[in-house]
Amino acid sequence: MAAPFPRWVNTLARATLIAAVCTLVGVPVALMAWVRTPNATRRFQPVAQPIAFDHRIHVTGQHIDCQYCHFSVERAASAGIPPSSTCVPCHSTVWMNSSALSLVRQSVATGTPLHWNRVNALPGFVYFNHAIHVNKGIKCENCHGRVERMARVYQAAPLTMSWCVDCHRTVRAPTNCTTCHR
Ligand code: HEC
Ligand code: HEC
Ligand code: HEC
Ligand code: HEC
Ligand code: HEC
Repeated sequence: MAAPFPRWVNTLARATLIAAVCTLVGVPVALMAWVRTPNATRRFQPVAQPIAFDHRIHVTGQHIDCQYCHFSVERAASAGIPPSSTCVPCHSTVWMNSSALSLVRQSVATGTPLHWNRVNALPGFVYFNHAIHVNKGIKCENCHGRVERMARVYQAAPLTMSWCVDCHRTVRAPTNCTTCHR
């Protein structure tokens, strides 16, 4: 008796099945890999700002401490972004008349805060605290790179969960879930 289907139908069925499995597994795996790439995490991409503030001029050139502007980094969860009044003591003389600082002038005059674009941002469900890390002797550059050499600040660390947990394991900091998700 002749086979109900020619043999090539079997081959086709098998090939289709293999292709389907590859797609089902491959697409999620590719997406999971992609979300961890620098492109997806915005890593290393300088963030444009409304004012051409340059850390190289201020930190390296003027020898200003990070804490002078990021005033709460040693005692609070958040490092703090300086209010426009921080810029006034130095800039009231010469530079305050330049166009590079017109937004700072406006902000000081009207009392409306400057709007800086965010560079490093964790999702809302993650708890992070600067003071704990800085007071344990971890340097800004361990997590932010050499900001004093950046014309525009970019995200230097991956900021992924495994990045946090890997360091916590190494230094014997807590790694239970509620440390960072509470
Ligand atoms: C004269 C004030 C000043 C000093 C000093 C200063 N910063 Fe900043 N910093 C700013 C301002 C203003 C911004 C927001 C604009 C920008 O991103 O450039 C900023 C942004 C940042 C950001 C990005 C914030 C975000 O959104 O994630 C990091 C990280 C940072 N600073 C680290 C440092 C470190 C580290 C030092 C010391 C080596 C330092 N800063 C010194 C004023 C300062
Ligand atoms: C401790 C003093 C000091 C503080 C505080 C300070 N600056 Fe400056 N800034 C300077 C000096 C000095 C220069 C000029 C450096 C030069 O010309 O070489 C400068 C230059 C600049 C320039 C011009 C840069 C360029 O590309 O020509 C901008 C814009 C600027 N500062 C913004 C700010 C802002 C915004 C703040 C507040 C968040 C701030 N500065 C706080 C001292 C300061
Ligand atoms: C252990 C890693 C780590 C260290 C050390 C660290 N930071 Fe951060 N920083 C982060 C992370 C993560 C964020 C994003 C926080 C968020 O989104 O909640 C951040 C955000 C910031 C911001 C944006 C404002 C804010 O508080 O969210 C500034 C400014 C900043 N850091 C400055 C500093 C300075 C200055 C130092 C050193 C004195 C420092 N950081 C040390 C990891 C670190
Ligand atoms: C370079 C190493 C390092 C990195 C990276 C790091 N941490 Fe930590 N973390 C520490 C150390 C050290 C401590 C202090 C542990 C102790 O109290 O002895 C700590 C403590 C903490 C604490 C307080 C724990 C407690 O309850 O005492 C939290 C929350 C935390 N880290 C969150 C984070 C998050 C979220 C990230 C990633 C965005 C991160 N950390 C990245 C080293 C690191
Ligand atoms: C030291 C800090 C830290 C600890 C401990 C930690 N997480 Fe996370 N977790 C993070 C950070 C940071 C992110 C955000 C990562 C991102 O945006 O890529 C995250 C993201 C997540 C997500 C979202 C999915 C993802 O992968 O982005 C889940 C789910 C999660 N964590 C579960 C857990 C569980 C379960 C534990 C305990 C076994 C745990 N976390 C312990 C820091 C931590």
